[in-house]
Amino acid sequence: MENTFYRQLLENNKEWVAKKLGEDPTFFKKLENGQQPPVLWIGCADSRVPANEIIGALPGEVFVHRNIANMVVPTDMNMLSVLDYAVNVLKVRHVIVCGHYGCGGVKAAMTSNSYGIIDNWIRHIKDVYRFHKTELDSIGDEEERFKRFVELNVMEQVSDLAKTAIVQNAWGKKQVLQLHGWVYGVGSGIIKDLEVNFNKGDMLDKVYRLQF
Ligand code: CO
Repeated sequence: MENTFYRQLLENNKEWVAKKLGEDPTFFKKLENGQQPPVLWIGCADSRVPANEIIGALPGEVFVHRNIANMVVPTDMNMLSVLDYAVNVLKVRHVIVCGHYGCGGVKAAMTSNSYGIIDNWIRHIKDVYRFHKTELDSIGDEEERFKRFVELNVMEQVSDLAKTAIVQNAWGKKQVLQLHGWVYGVGSGIIKDLEVNFNKGDMLDKVYRLQF
């Protein structure tokens, strides 16, 4: 069964190529020359949240970084490399942190369960809980508290992006760069814009502002 599914993926690819070429014979040829995506997407690794598909974006339109619970951890070389390349080479104009309701990583952070090495990653999400403990603890309904935690986690990751030297440097050079926070509804398909539109350094707490 599993082998069948695996083989099917390759068949799907052939069909997809044929369909794309049917619509536009130069579809792949045009992509060969390079990319100029206007958007960097930082999303969860969750299989139900495929970046391009849920926003109707084509190949070449979104630069993507995904990890468990869409985190912006400032010591994560993978994230920093993606961000640096997107901002300084590709010159994306938007960075979207997209979380999702029902996120397993966020859920894990609400519990005391140990999941092994990932506990160290989840701990960053637990810090978000601690920052917003008063608000979260005041929500009696566990499902509602979980939803709010997902939203607050996205907002924190957006501000963690703003705290990076990469983003502050771009703003310092008057480069247009807007940071956004979204939450995707796995059960509805709908994206909620949290409207945390960071677009300049003075929106940050003074202690995080860098002088270059
Ligand atoms: Co998730």
